[in-house]
Amino acid sequence: MNALVNRRRFIGRTAALSLTALVPRNLLAEASSTYRVVLRTGSEIGLVKPEFHSHFAEHLGSCVYGGLWVGKNSPIPNIEGYRKQAIEYLKDLGVPVLRWPGGCYADDYHWRDGIGALKQRPKRVNIHWGGYVEDGSFGTHEFMGLCRLIGAEPYFAGNVGSGTPHELQDWIEYCNMPSGSALAEERAKNGSAEPFRVRYWGIGNENWGCGGDMRPETYANLYRQFAVYVRQYGDTKPFLIGCGPGGPDRRWTRGFMDTLDGRHPDGYSMHYYEGGADRPTEFTAAHSDEQLSIFTKVEDAIIEQRTLLDGYREGRKIGLILDEWGVWDKIPEAEEKRYGKLWQQSTMRSGVAAGLGLNIFNRQADKLYMCNIAQIVNVLQSLLLTDGAEGRDCVRTTTYYAFHLFKPHRGKTAIRVESAESSPLAPSVSASKLANEIVVSLVNPKHDEDVSMECTLQGATAKSGKGQILHDTDWNACNSFENPNRVVPQPHPVSVDGNRIRLDLPRLSVATIILDAA
Ligand code: AHR
Repeated sequence: MNALVNRRRFIGRTAALSLTALVPRNLLAEASSTYRVVLRTGSEIGLVKPEFHSHFAEHLGSCVYGGLWVGKNSPIPNIEGYRKQAIEYLKDLGVPVLRWPGGCYADDYHWRDGIGALKQRPKRVNIHWGGYVEDGSFGTHEFMGLCRLIGAEPYFAGNVGSGTPHELQDWIEYCNMPSGSALAEERAKNGSAEPFRVRYWGIGNENWGCGGDMRPETYANLYRQFAVYVRQYGDTKPFLIGCGPGGPDRRWTRGFMDTLDGRHPDGYSMHYYEGGADRPTEFTAAHSDEQLSIFTKVEDAIIEQRTLLDGYREGRKIGLILDEWGVWDKIPEAEEKRYGKLWQQSTMRSGVAAGLGLNIFNRQADKLYMCNIAQIVNVLQSLLLTDGAEGRDCVRTTTYYAFHLFKPHRGKTAIRVESAESSPLAPSVSASKLANEIVVSLVNPKHDEDVSMECTLQGATAKSGKGQILHDTDWNACNSFENPNRVVPQPHPVSVDGNRIRLDLPRLSVATIILDAA
């Protein structure tokens, strides 16, 4: 086994150098196969907002149609048209916020096409995702019904690319005006006398690309114009989300913020996909390493974008949102044809990727507002997969289970974790606490090295600990329709001795331990 503890560096990438001196030398001792970290219970980072575990559903492939929505007359078991099995799995996981209807689709979506009598909804071509004809049967009311069923808060992405401020203003009034206006009455006539109270409104999506191919200055001027018409109706104060960069793009953020000139959105959305060179279940070890290594760049980009925003006085009030992230592999055409556009299997590698991302969000909890993985069902790094739009089977992916393992962090306070190793494939650790409970999540992204973890609790003593692990030595292992439970969390032994916690962290694993501490 390689020496793991060989450099005095930290996985907490913030202020790494200044923290080095604080780690007692004996805790990060000589090189060995044991990987040591210090959990500093007294050093709080910030709240692990449940919103870090949010999701995204686009009219793309079989995500909405067939994945989430099968229609009331479908032979597939459904609740008022929503795929029953998917609803049950998502409810169990808990979906804090769900973003919709895109993606690229958002800037070509006209909300009126999705309300009223089904027969009157116009058929439109989905120009971004395969040119199929969209019948509009899943619109605003259907999306709100889904959010209610799974307990998610809705996040609507508005149309800036091909829409107008007036159109967006009307959509918000339609959703949120309690009563009295023509649009509120129309909503009531369409089945909901109660306002939808939608808080999150995206002002476009990827407007540097599919959302209009704009320069940051052009977009910022449009943002200013749209923002004038995004108003509060009833008691729902809208939370406006501006379009941020694709990856670590400083130029976009500077151009946007400079042109805003004092105005500011409530949130600013960055997208960061982790591209893959192979088909999901045929990754080479080298390509798996390559993809998983991208996560350090994601963490750096979060820190950098936060710093850039904070450089503007008004920027400090802006919540940084990562509303599209996840692995984007080379997708086999045959599978897309069979199951839907961008249908991608989630493997042990993807589960590890999810764990790396979720650990970053804990570690950077003070810099983030919300994160939405792309996408919830049947598209890219999805939580659930169905065998196409018409298939009855619905499996929970490794990514679903990685999210499940992180659920205990929600609503706790992230604490600093120090380690001696910060290479991209070093074990990744994050921790949070609330009252007597300390939750620690550990990810080993290496495909060829099992490690022993030794965690030293500073500022608390543990009485007992319980562990769960998601693990398979084959990075291409997945939950298929034939074998839906190949990779599922298992109980994992943890040894607790006062302030020392020890556990094995095999290659390619995501583990969470819950400590009862004093
Ligand atoms: O998630 C798939 C696509 O990726 C989205 O439509 C777009 O916003 C991004 O480029």
